[in-house]
Amino acid sequence: MLCDRRKLCRMLGGDSLVCVLVYLFVLIDYCGVIEGARQRRISQKELEAMNAEQLINYYGYNVESHRFVTYDGYVLTLHRLARPMARPVLLQHGVMGSTETWVMQGPKRDLPYMMYEAGFDVWIGNVRGNLYGRNHVNMSVLDPKFWEFSWHEMGLYDLPGMLDYIIQWTGYPDVLYVGHSMGTTMAYVMGSMRPEYNRKIRVSIHMAPVAYMTLREFFYLYYVKFRTQFTRMYTRNGIYELLPRNKYLRMIQADLCRDGSPFQWICIDMFFTLTGADWEQLNRTMVPMYLRHASPSSIQTLDHFSQLIARPGMFMAYDYKNIRKNYEKYGSYEPPTYNLSRVTAPAVLFYAKNDFLSRQVDVDRISRELPNVVGKKLIQYRKFNHIDYLWGKYSKKLVYDDIINLLRLYS
Ligand SMILES: *[C@@H]1O[C@H](CO)[C@@H](O)[C@H](O)[C@H]1NC(C)=O
Ligand SMILES: *[C@@H]1O[C@H](CO)[C@@H](O)[C@H](O)[C@H]1NC(C)=O
Ligand SMILES: *[C@@H]1O[C@H](CO)[C@@H](O)[C@H](O)[C@H]1NC(C)=O
Repeated sequence: MLCDRRKLCRMLGGDSLVCVLVYLFVLIDYCGVIEGARQRRISQKELEAMNAEQLINYYGYNVESHRFVTYDGYVLTLHRLARPMARPVLLQHGVMGSTETWVMQGPKRDLPYMMYEAGFDVWIGNVRGNLYGRNHVNMSVLDPKFWEFSWHEMGLYDLPGMLDYIIQWTGYPDVLYVGHSMGTTMAYVMGSMRPEYNRKIRVSIHMAPVAYMTLREFFYLYYVKFRTQFTRMYTRNGIYELLPRNKYLRMIQADLCRDGSPFQWICIDMFFTLTGADWEQLNRTMVPMYLRHASPSSIQTLDHFSQLIARPGMFMAYDYKNIRKNYEKYGSYEPPTYNLSRVTAPAVLFYAKNDFLSRQVDVDRISRELPNVVGKKLIQYRKFNHIDYLWGKYSKKLVYDDIINLLRLYS
């Protein structure tokens, strides 16, 4: 208003002297500067370079970062959209995820903001080895031993550590839990190996549950067939980290997948080979962003999933293929199987038809074996895939609204 010259002139009575002054004022371009600063749009590339805290701030929310040390010495970060006194909910990402996975698209499309707006105290977990869990009290990431973990340890130490921390901080006796993919696997490991933690979970909501894996896709079967060779090749070359963050490689990769790049469809096609194709729900402009924000994990995590695929119907701890090592870790020569009937926290399962990694037969089996399934929902969208839970255009309507209702129901 103050910067609309003509209006200002009229408002001041159209006096010519005043108007000359107004125009002079504009000559100095005070208004232009103010206006420009307000309207300066953050470019997509700048957005891509932001970390979790910056993204959350950019979208107009405050974020707290809480660090704690797990029982076995890993320093992990919990991010919090704090609503003190409100009931806490813990959101847990899947493999190659981090807080960033959940917060890139803003309040209209991302689950954490919606949960916060619905009145919850939102905590976002990060597992060991990802961008926010790269410290250990005794080891550095350059130490191969740092990477000797999979979702077994995440379920045994990371998740219990997060729950204990949140419970201690907020004073609530239990936490609402929402996990995606590996975030559900961790919950099954914890619930079966450390059943005392079941009562610390008020309700456990699982998007794309993963425990048994009967996969049929050529790509996975091929990898699994040669998994020993692949894993040996990595370790021989001193590679223990899955997807180390080489900044330049990532930027090139992101550029190839950008809008206007002739390679974009190949890039997306490769993406879909892994997750199931759903062209309709993917926002292509965001693909470089998704890629840039993938977080590292351990090769062993990948290999543990391969083990699930290699032995369909067996949900068991990581097999070191070495009797002494197994004995050291588990107190038995064979790795233990996780007993789902011990996972007694009330569970709600969301699954989808086009999700390669969480297939209906496997989800059916999980729901038969879990003793306390209070809900099971097939998502009503034929093409819904593994990543649509995070970034699908219609996720709010298809999944998040239900989740928020469940959280309210269990509050
Ligand atoms: C770290 O090292 C110290 C000294 O060797 C040891 O006492 C401690 O148990 C280690 N902590 C962890 C979590 O491994
Ligand atoms: C896709 O992403 C871009 C960039 O963030 C955004 O401007 C656009 O609104 C998104 N489109 C849809 C349909 O959400
Ligand atoms: C699994 O746990 C249940 C309940 O604790 C127990 O009854 C059952 O025998 C266990 N199954 C196996 C295979 O250990």
